[in-house]
Amino acid sequence: MSEQNVTNPDQGGEWWRSAVVYQVYPRSFSDLNGDGIGDLAGVVDKLGYLELLGVDAIWLSPVTRSPMADHGYDVSDPRDIDPIFGDLETFDRLIAEAHDRDIRVTMDLVPNHTSDEHEWFTQALAAEPGSPERARYIFQDGRGENGDEPPNNWTSVFGGPAWTRVPATDDEPAQWYLHLFAPQQPDLNWETPEVLEDLQKTMRFWLDRGVDGFRIDVAHGMAKPEGLPDLEEPATVLTHTDDDPRFNRDGVHEIHRAIRAVSDEYPGTANVGEVWVSSPEAFAKYVRSDELHLGFNFALASAAFDADEVRSAITSSMEATSAVGAVPTWTLSNHDVHREVSRYAPAAEEFGLTPGQALAVGAQRARAMALVELALPGTVFIYNGAELGLPNANLPDDSLVDPVWESSGHTDRGRDECRVPIPWEGSEPPFGFSSSSETWLPIPADWATITVEAQLEDIFSTLSLYRQAIELRYARPEFGGDTVEWYGAPEGCIAFRRPGGLVCALNASTEPVPLPPGEVLLVSTPLESGQLPPNAAAWLI
Ligand code: GLC
Ligand code: CA
Repeated sequence: MSEQNVTNPDQGGEWWRSAVVYQVYPRSFSDLNGDGIGDLAGVVDKLGYLELLGVDAIWLSPVTRSPMADHGYDVSDPRDIDPIFGDLETFDRLIAEAHDRDIRVTMDLVPNHTSDEHEWFTQALAAEPGSPERARYIFQDGRGENGDEPPNNWTSVFGGPAWTRVPATDDEPAQWYLHLFAPQQPDLNWETPEVLEDLQKTMRFWLDRGVDGFRIDVAHGMAKPEGLPDLEEPATVLTHTDDDPRFNRDGVHEIHRAIRAVSDEYPGTANVGEVWVSSPEAFAKYVRSDELHLGFNFALASAAFDADEVRSAITSSMEATSAVGAVPTWTLSNHDVHREVSRYAPAAEEFGLTPGQALAVGAQRARAMALVELALPGTVFIYNGAELGLPNANLPDDSLVDPVWESSGHTDRGRDECRVPIPWEGSEPPFGFSSSSETWLPIPADWATITVEAQLEDIFSTLSLYRQAIELRYARPEFGGDTVEWYGAPEGCIAFRRPGGLVCALNASTEPVPLPPGEVLLVSTPLESGQLPPNAAAWLI
């Protein structure tokens, strides 16, 4: 084990079994060179903040070379840093300085596809159908007369067809290539051994530089079904079911075993996969002991602010992991979904609220849910800005840059509204994020009251709540044990207890409720006459 891997004695080196991981979306975190886009030097600059917050590790969304058609998830060279973000030297500095502060660094790995500007894809386009160059991707002849129709009816997750036709080569009809995401993200063919070999090379490249693991993009993708059968039902943009032929094929598990074998050469490192499957049984397969260390379970990020939904999200996530002795993970949001403050906000008109009032309720609920997730056993992922209680931003149409906006034919606004840069300080945009007022996405002026600076000074702020919660979670023995025991709770409420003695109560009803017995450790909203108000959670011991 390298010296940098500071081990938590309780976890026998398996720090990832009970960690708080902070997702840095690098474009939006901190811009040090003033081009309006966040960069690695900006992350280095803010490590003190992350230490203060108390996180164990960061997950960096892609910083590798990319033409940025999908903001880094279209990788043209997986073994270099994109100049927008900096260079390898800055990356090495980030690892060294983060490790000095006992913060581990994990990074995104994108194995399902490359950029269309990856040298492999350039070579594939120049080569003939049936060539080894084309075999690295999924090229097929079309259906219909002259092969003018796509090979099957699959749609892209971003909307529109999942196939794009390429120019014809000398004497063969023009083929089509598969892209489950943007046309600039051709899917790799995992049947070709070179694809795995290259990924292993990429893993070693970064592990040798000291990274502590990877977040594996589309970890339920990669394997494709034989014969590429048609979709039986048209798919909806940005979602899919477990039996969708495009994802979650049996063959993916062999790929995960091969990925795990490389990680096992580097003790103390861990991978978390983006696993968008719904059934606990399907999910459990990904986190068997020789596959992923962790899988993102999106049950909680998909649940409404509702006692039954939250309880069943927790139960199903724990059921999935405990079946195979794995660790549950919890997250309320990431760079692909609506921020929890907006997600939990009641529909303003329906409840006779102004949009501002509705968001204030959403913010209270998000604070309550932060206490719920941080009370649970396992590993918690916090998306940058969640600790500030940022809502989705209302962005003007002409500022939208997510490829989903275009490819859905302007029917889905995409994910930009949850990706707006972090407001650090001061009273007007760009709030210290950048020295340029032209940030890659505009920052709302009314975020002046929720900057990091404003919240650090306020002991009742969401940031202060997160800091206290993370500190208690780390320090208190009451957080021990891998299970939760449910208590009886009033209608619309839940309460559970950890074996170590921590009790967490959530009031998702509309009336104040009495607290379970015990000494109050932390509340998301002040108690009202000793009772837990609506939209609030409490920790007791
Ligand atoms: C994952 C990423 C998302 C990206 C997609 C394609 O879902 O989280 O941001 O667009 O994969 O790589
Ligand atoms: Ca920059």
